[in-house]
Amino acid sequence: MRNVTTPPRLFAIVSLLMIIMMVVVTGLTQALFFRQSIIDRESVIVSDMANALAHEHLISASDMANYSNAAAMEHLGEGFGPISQLSGTQRIKVFNRDYTIVWSDNPGMLGTKHTTHIGDLTRAMHGEIRAVFNSEEADTSTGKHDSSTPESIEIYTPIFEATQARPGAAVIGVLSLSRSPLALNQTIRDGLYLLWTVIGLTGLVLFSALYKLFTLVYSRQKLAESRFTKLSADHDHIVQLEKLSAMGEIVSEIAHQINNPLVGVINLAQVAERDPEISEKTRRLLVAIEKSGIECSDFVQRLLRLNQAARSEPQSVEVNDLVQDTIAFFHQTIGKHHTLAFAESDKRLMIVVDPVLIRHALFNFIHNAILAAPDKPVVISLAAEELEGVPGYLLSVTDGGSGFSDDAAKKLFKPFFTTRPGGTGLGLSVAQFIAMKHGGIVRAENLPVGGARFSIWLPSAPKP
Ligand SMILES: Nc1ncnc2c1ncn2[C@@H]1O[C@H](COP(=O)(O)OP(=O)(O)O)[C@@H](O)[C@H]1O
Ligand SMILES: [Mg+2]
Repeated sequence: MRNVTTPPRLFAIVSLLMIIMMVVVTGLTQALFFRQSIIDRESVIVSDMANALAHEHLISASDMANYSNAAAMEHLGEGFGPISQLSGTQRIKVFNRDYTIVWSDNPGMLGTKHTTHIGDLTRAMHGEIRAVFNSEEADTSTGKHDSSTPESIEIYTPIFEATQARPGAAVIGVLSLSRSPLALNQTIRDGLYLLWTVIGLTGLVLFSALYKLFTLVYSRQKLAESRFTKLSADHDHIVQLEKLSAMGEIVSEIAHQINNPLVGVINLAQVAERDPEISEKTRRLLVAIEKSGIECSDFVQRLLRLNQAARSEPQSVEVNDLVQDTIAFFHQTIGKHHTLAFAESDKRLMIVVDPVLIRHALFNFIHNAILAAPDKPVVISLAAEELEGVPGYLLSVTDGGSGFSDDAAKKLFKPFFTTRPGGTGLGLSVAQFIAMKHGGIVRAENLPVGGARFSIWLPSAPKP
């Protein structure tokens, strides 16, 4: 459902509706115009023909006036008779200026004033050519349309005085020709089919061109946006790296400065302890000073290790070996009784990293995992994984603990963030720093089944 509202789809729907509307409106107006121009053309042809015949047979105003005269009747018949040869002719009536029918193919109409379109007849008397559709002419009294009645198109054309040249020639009468509109309708229908096809195709071409243009512009904009997002992510990355790096420098500088006097304090305390002249109370105080000094020195040593991360010496190493070395080191230093499960890959997976730093990061993950659930096994996994098209390896450490809180999730990688008594809060931030230095990332996730997983992804080859 969500897809329906994506900008290209929305554009497609809106533009398609607009183009359909445009096609329909254009089609309707063009159809109307087309129909009218076909009728007009037909009327002009009939008018030209009727006038040509009238002029050829020199039909005059007096013939029109004296239509009952035998000579005039014959004259009129010779002049207008050939028009009945036109295909589809249903009725011909010739009116004189008194609106009386002076000639017709139906002799019964002679002398009558029969017309249903007095207005059109009058306008024709003034020199205009008129065309009217008669659809219900036959039976207006019943008020019903009789479908058996043939429809007709009736053309009223002025007949001009033969002796005078047009325009401005005098109108001596009007010829009314009723014809079956079938042939005309067929022409109109064919024309309309063609018209609708052309307009429809134009609409289709217009739509596809517009849609193509829009998707092109849209995809370019999306590309630019994603590039921008990546650039700002890269920027954040660099800022974080610099912060950690600067912090490492400061911390190590302070640690160095404290370390020397501290060693002095411990040494002097030890020397003083051995002095036989001091009292037992003073000796106990000196032992306490020495113990605190050693604790303090341990902490300083840990801080100094933080700065080691700033100096890396990449080399090509095998990832399985790297993990096995870390596990062995962990067993030596922390204890053998912890279960560290690692399914080694049967392939040799080479990577260019500083092995000391990566071991350090992995060691921190394992240590945290053991602290989270000391009696549960810790699972270490290794998989080849691409990140944004870059080949690399993902090393994950999964524990059976209770995971971390939402609040902790926001601060996990902040230096000195810790929830453990005696913790330094430097394990994860240093691991992240190490990952960043190698162009990699660290991920932390709570698993739906319980427990947490901390992973480090590293590109198999360093960034050029
Ligand atoms: N496996 C884990 N499960 C739950 N919480 C963890 C885990 N690893 C780290 N954390 C949380 O992240 C904090 C920071 O870890 P770290 O940077 O290694 O510092 P420290 O171990 O000294 O506390 C921990 O105090 C703990 O709250
Ligand atoms: Mg830790």
